[in-house]
Amino acid sequence: MRQPLGERVRDSVRLRTLDAKDRLSGRADRLVPPRRLDFVGHSDFVATGDEFLGHFIEHGGLQPHHAVLDIGCGIGRMARPLSGYLDADGAYEGFDVNREGIGWCRRRYARHKSFHFQVADLYNRRYNPLGPFKAIDYRFPFEDERFDFAIMTSVLTHLLEDEAEHYISEAARVLKPGGRAFTTFFLLEAESRALIGSGRSGLDFLEPEAHVSVLSDDVPEEAVAYDEGWVYERVGTHGLRVLEPIHPGTWSGRDEGASFQDIVVLEKAP
Ligand SMILES: C[S@@+](CC[C@H](N)C(=O)[O-])C[C@H]1O[C@@H](n2cnc3c(N)ncnc32)[C@H](O)[C@@H]1O
Repeated sequence: MRQPLGERVRDSVRLRTLDAKDRLSGRADRLVPPRRLDFVGHSDFVATGDEFLGHFIEHGGLQPHHAVLDIGCGIGRMARPLSGYLDADGAYEGFDVNREGIGWCRRRYARHKSFHFQVADLYNRRYNPLGPFKAIDYRFPFEDERFDFAIMTSVLTHLLEDEAEHYISEAARVLKPGGRAFTTFFLLEAESRALIGSGRSGLDFLEPEAHVSVLSDDVPEEAVAYDEGWVYERVGTHGLRVLEPIHPGTWSGRDEGASFQDIVVLEKAP
């Protein structure tokens, strides 16, 4: 699904022009990547990060002294607001398959001594098509029970079924007892299934009745939706439980939602 060359050149020129304007107008912020490097979504980088910090606190119970793991941290969209929130006892570790994003974060967060970023060179057809290693074999590079809070924002929505389950089990392993995993999903349940294909959802998953469904057979990792019951069942087998309520998002065409994707907070047994 690579864009045609002409379109890519036009996009690149447009983004570089906007970056130059940002620099001139003084809008450039050290922890906000230039637009040409921002590969994590079409939403506003700062507004989305700030929005999620609010969700982490309100729905996830994040506290300033927490040790945080950001799984699939991209180019620091969640790290930026966390850098102003975590206190001297707090700490942040992020990893991602995107080498450029991690390299940029390492340089920009060099002064933030409790913030660390690392590359996991894993295959993902959408985000790292040349990655030599498999996500299902990846052991997160941290000891058991190290973290209070694990973040997977817009990550399980890009992992295939075995990978998603493996990441849930790894998140459970590295969380302290009572620790929480803040996740987002495209959840398939009665209401979202009814809306898919109705013209109201921007994301018309191909087989919404199945327990896992993708938008594109060519690049399945573009977007993956999971049955809500699958999530309850799978997280339970790894020692996590869904903290109710789930916070539905607007992706399916619902009029109101806490965010765009569905927010699901998981808790490890204390
Ligand atoms: C939509 S972006 C979200 C990034 C970040 N979580 C955020 O909210 O800004 C999806 C991210 O998942 C990363 N990713 C894809 N497969 C991965 C994997 N197996 N392990 C870790 N990160 C992965 C991509 O490189 C990309 O940064």
